[in-house]
Amino acid sequence: MTYFDKDMENLNHPAVIPVDERYGRFQFTEDELDDESSAYSVASSAHNFLVENGRRYHDYKNGHPFPYDEVSEENEIVLHEMCLLLLDNKYFLSPINESSLRCVADVGTGLGLWAEGMAEKYPDTQVVGIDTAPRPRAIYPNLSHIMFDATDEWVLDDPSMKFDLVHIRSLFVGVKDWDALYKQCFDNMNSGAWIEQMEVEIEALTDDEEILPNSQLRALCDFTREMSAAAGRDFQISSAMKKKVEEAGFVDVQEQRLKLPLGPWPTDPKLKDVGRFYERFYKTGLQGWLLQICTRNMGWTLDQVNDACIKAFQEINSRQQHFWYPL
Ligand SMILES: C[S@@+](CC[C@H](N)C(=O)[O-])C[C@H]1O[C@@H](n2cnc3c(N)ncnc32)[C@H](O)[C@@H]1O
Repeated sequence: MTYFDKDMENLNHPAVIPVDERYGRFQFTEDELDDESSAYSVASSAHNFLVENGRRYHDYKNGHPFPYDEVSEENEIVLHEMCLLLLDNKYFLSPINESSLRCVADVGTGLGLWAEGMAEKYPDTQVVGIDTAPRPRAIYPNLSHIMFDATDEWVLDDPSMKFDLVHIRSLFVGVKDWDALYKQCFDNMNSGAWIEQMEVEIEALTDDEEILPNSQLRALCDFTREMSAAAGRDFQISSAMKKKVEEAGFVDVQEQRLKLPLGPWPTDPKLKDVGRFYERFYKTGLQGWLLQICTRNMGWTLDQVNDACIKAFQEINSRQQHFWYPL
C-alpha cells in the first residue's frame, strides 16, 4: 500500500450538528460580551489600573488595597501550591458527595488556580470564578469567570443557577462587608450545599517560646489591627468568620485550625515544604499587604514600608525562631 492508498482517518463527525436545547442559557465569555450592553458592562471599570509606589492596583469600585501585578501573581501561585500540599491535594474538605457536585463558585478567584483545578478534576461540574479584577481566559469548557463585587447581588448568566459549593480562599482585607458577602453566598446556594473558607490568621505563634526580643514578625501581626482600623478593612476575618457564617443562616458550621510553619524548620518533610512555601508566600506578599494602607492611611513613606519588610525578612533569615501561623 502506498501513502496515497491510505484513507484519511474518518472522525465520524455528524453531517448536521445536533443543537443542545439548553444553548440559550449558556454563559458567554468576556470577549463575547465586550461590545454588549449586559450585566457585565458594569464591570468595565475593572479594566482600569493605577500604579502607585511601583506596584499596580486595579481600580474597580475604588480598588483593592493589595496590588495586582506580577509579584502578586507569584504570591497567589505559591499560596495555591502551599494549600494543595497542606491539604494532601484536596480541593475542599467539606463532606460533599462528589457525584452530586453540579455547580461550584470560587469567590475572589484571583488568577483562578483553584477554579481551574476544580474544572479539570470535575469535568461534569460547572465552575464559576468570581472576582472584581479581570482575569485570564477560562481554559476549560466547564469553567467561566465573571467580574463583579461578590458583596453585591449576584448576576449570573443563568439566573436559575444555584451552587453546591462556594469556595473562598484568602479574601482577607478584600471584602469590607462580610455579612453582605455571606448573605449573597447563602442566597445563591442550594439547600444542603456547603460554603468553605480558608484564611490565614495574622498571628505569629510558637510552641517553644524561642522569640527574639522586639520581634518584627510579632510586631507586624499586632500592627495589622491598627491597619484594619485605619483602612476599614479586616485583617482578622479568620477569627470572625465562623460566627458570621452562622449569622448568615448556615448550619453545621465546623472550623479546623491547621499550622502553617514560617520557614523550613519542621522535621516532618511535608511540613518542611509547607514552611518553605509559606516563607515564600510571606516574602512575596508582605510589601503588598502593607504598602497602600500604610502610605495612604497611616502617613508612612515607601522607604519606611521597605525598611519594615527588610527587618522582617532578616528576622526570618536568621533562622532562630519556629513561628507558625494558624490557617
Ligand atoms: C489574594 S487574591 C485570592 C486568590 C485566590 N482566592 C486564591 O486563593 O488563589 C484575592 C482576590 O479577591 C478579589 N476580591 C476582593 N474583594 C472582592 C469582592 N468583594 N468580590 C469579588 N472579588 C473580590 C481580589 O480582586 C483578588 O483577586
